[in-house]
Amino acid sequence: MAVSRGAFSSRIGFIMAAAGSAVGLGNIWGFPTQTASNGGAAFVLVYLILAFCLAYPAFMAEILIGRYGQANAVTSLQKMSRTLWQKRFGFVVGFGGIICAALILSFYGILAGWMMSFAVEPLALMLGANQAADWVVNQSLERNLLFTVLFMFLTIFIIRKGVENGIEKWSKRLMPMMIGLLVLLIIYVFTLDGASEGVEAYLNPDISRVLDPNLLVSALGQAFFSLSLGTSVMVIYGSYISKKENMVSIGAQVTLIDVSIAFLAGLLIIPAMYVAQAQGVAIFAADGSLNSGPTLVFDVLPSLFDGMGGIGLFIGFAFFLLMTIAALTSSISMLEGPVSYAVERHDIERKKATTMIGLAILALSVVIVANIDFMLDLVATISTQYGQPIIAMLCCVFAGWIWYRNELLAEIKQGNEAVESSLFWKIWPWYIKFVCPVAIATVFIHSIL
Ligand code: PFF
Repeated sequence: MAVSRGAFSSRIGFIMAAAGSAVGLGNIWGFPTQTASNGGAAFVLVYLILAFCLAYPAFMAEILIGRYGQANAVTSLQKMSRTLWQKRFGFVVGFGGIICAALILSFYGILAGWMMSFAVEPLALMLGANQAADWVVNQSLERNLLFTVLFMFLTIFIIRKGVENGIEKWSKRLMPMMIGLLVLLIIYVFTLDGASEGVEAYLNPDISRVLDPNLLVSALGQAFFSLSLGTSVMVIYGSYISKKENMVSIGAQVTLIDVSIAFLAGLLIIPAMYVAQAQGVAIFAADGSLNSGPTLVFDVLPSLFDGMGGIGLFIGFAFFLLMTIAALTSSISMLEGPVSYAVERHDIERKKATTMIGLAILALSVVIVANIDFMLDLVATISTQYGQPIIAMLCCVFAGWIWYRNELLAEIKQGNEAVESSLFWKIWPWYIKFVCPVAIATVFIHSIL
């Protein structure tokens, strides 16, 4: 394994890359959608609590495992294993995460392709290509194939360039652009009639729903998906961080960015729905609940943009560009998991490994596209509802039960000498040992029953 490893060149490089992985369609589409269908602010409140109390500790376990191992997920987990059984267990957990990342990418690339196609529509209209504009926003096998392929090629293009020149450089370019677009869109939507009603619906919690078990399951699932847990991605990103960095604080910063962007996305989408309502678009489903999921993003919002006239073309373009960028900084992290494994464990050259693995995942996406009615949901459920919580829980078990406490402390101390006397060190090791595995298992069992 004589491959020289890539690394992030700076703290901000890691923060942008990890936040780029975390912030994606989950934040800008999933979170507002879940909020809309789970009683508004009650969901936001529970989400914030779970993100910091359960997802952040699990996230810390994953990035610390990676920084300690300085290698892909399998090698990192095996480095802390002492017995043969632990090493086998390390393989199962690490490789399971890699498979999970690949499966997520196979369906995520299709959704991201839809975002791209909706970004192309306003451009086509501006150029007067009305037929093409119609084609790109209507479901068809050809449309889905074309945009999935385009999106996956973009992902492969960036990952072929490596950690510093690919992941870091592009995350540093795309993340500020994405945040800028988000803020501009919020400001614009706030100036429109109906927005204040939406803000109220978003921020006024129906406290009676806070303990609803279904809401808890959705909020935890959302938090895990959003922090890219249980996929090997944060282990590999952690392995590219310098030993000089204070992991406790950069982990907290990434979580904070992720949660804040989800919150901001809600502040854009929910008010935008009420603006759409003020313009005569139906935003409630027949059962009285707010429209969510695909209807929200592909019907309600485009109707809103259409109703705005000329400026709607620019706003629609900006919105779907924002979605595409957010998806891209996430998809590159999903591809990096399997690629780093192939490069480090099987000595395959990075460009070759990226192209081969990227095309293999694309082939799976093509199969999904061809059987979209049942496969899209199936692959999403297997990977996000089963794979992610199980692997994330097992990573906590690794950090809490297999990793020697003194080795763990020595690792965190690098870049954070005073950590031993901090609140973090008093709480986190117990948390990761007992609270996280039990809480994740409980929520997981409830979700499958
Ligand atoms: N965190 C991403 C989002 O919120 O859209 C999704 C994601 C990225 C999941 C990377 C898994 C992963 F490995």
